[in-house]
Amino acid sequence: MKIKKGIPLIDQHDKNGFWGGKFGGNFIPETLKKPVEDLNILFEKLRKDKRFIKERDYYFKNWVGAPTPFIKLENLTSHLGGAQVWAKVVSEANGGAHKIYNATVHCLITKRAGKKYIVGDTGAGYAGKMLSMAAKKFGLKCKIFMGAKDIKRQKPNCDAMRKNGAEIVPVHSGSQTLVDAVSECMRYWVANCDSTAMCVGSTVGPNIFVKICGWSTAQISRELLQQIKNEFGEIPSKLKLINCVGGGSSAYGFWSEFMDYKKKQVEMIGVEAAGPKKSKLHAAPLSKGSKLGVLHGAASYVCQNSDGQIKETESISAGLDYPGVSPMHCFLKDAGRARYSSATDEEALEAYKLVTKYENLNPSLEPSHAFAEAIKIAPKLSNDTVIIVNSCGDAQKDRDILRKRLGKY
Ligand SMILES: Cc1ncc(COP(=O)(O)O)c(C=O)c1O
Repeated sequence: MKIKKGIPLIDQHDKNGFWGGKFGGNFIPETLKKPVEDLNILFEKLRKDKRFIKERDYYFKNWVGAPTPFIKLENLTSHLGGAQVWAKVVSEANGGAHKIYNATVHCLITKRAGKKYIVGDTGAGYAGKMLSMAAKKFGLKCKIFMGAKDIKRQKPNCDAMRKNGAEIVPVHSGSQTLVDAVSECMRYWVANCDSTAMCVGSTVGPNIFVKICGWSTAQISRELLQQIKNEFGEIPSKLKLINCVGGGSSAYGFWSEFMDYKKKQVEMIGVEAAGPKKSKLHAAPLSKGSKLGVLHGAASYVCQNSDGQIKETESISAGLDYPGVSPMHCFLKDAGRARYSSATDEEALEAYKLVTKYENLNPSLEPSHAFAEAIKIAPKLSNDTVIIVNSCGDAQKDRDILRKRLGKY
């Protein structure tokens, strides 16, 4: 399995929508064939349309607040005593996380399609909050599907969705988390696709949703590439880009401009959720060796039992608590271009404690998993190694969990 140079990874699938011949595709019911095809045609047209690109860039700059800061974590670097640790503070984007890029683009496409309604899924609540923000901005009516367990643990984001006028549909089936929210959202779309658009909250789902989401979050690495060049004059000879991986949209967006660099120069490290230390359950299909399966319209490595049934996951982080992962990350893993590891709940909490002790940064539980990996490897590396962590979400949404687990927020 090989990655081609000079072609965005979102376009490196075959005519049936598979990356590396087996990841992704379109496992969809007959009724969705036409709306999915229509969306495909519209997206391919819009991404070549200079006016549409101008509009996207206008809103990214003047509404999302691009570019987000790129900062050196000097105190953390001194404390760890090895590699330099930097952060791309994507949580400074309007709304507090990277999900704003995908939500903005989906709403702009929906307007062009002449639809007035949009539905979406959410786990941590950021995808839902951002979709509710973008829907309000662009005059669309919005419905968000969210697992009942996540509604309880991510209250601040639910309050924001309601404030923006979105309806939250609680999902009580299965594990009452993101996996069930995506299923329910897709079921709703099957019945309402004539009038309603669907925004899948990550680089998962049928091929076109992976592509739109990846195309949107790629903004992160376009900014970062420029910021690195401004800071260092060139791409450092030892660069490590660390990102948490749930569905994989922030990681793809963080890495996409760096794909063509040699692995020895730019290492890409994805960190999944290993769950509580004592539990056998996790949400780490890539790093814990899960098998290929089909989930939410696409083939990917999926946490499953020996009968191929989707297995329950467990993680302190609602955004990473998902049994599948983007087909593009499966491809990157098998092609050997990215390395995937995992962090436990406890390691993520320790990382949160350390980062907030030394820095004026408040990473949510998702990027705290990425910081756990940075904290693990930085002391073993030399000072000319540059580690950059994507601090892709703000911990405000996690205040209840942090108060309960750490006694303070
Ligand atoms: C702040 C944050 N980071 C990461 C994720 C994981 O998703 P993805 O892997 O698509 O970036 C989420 C998902 O909700 C999130 O809210």
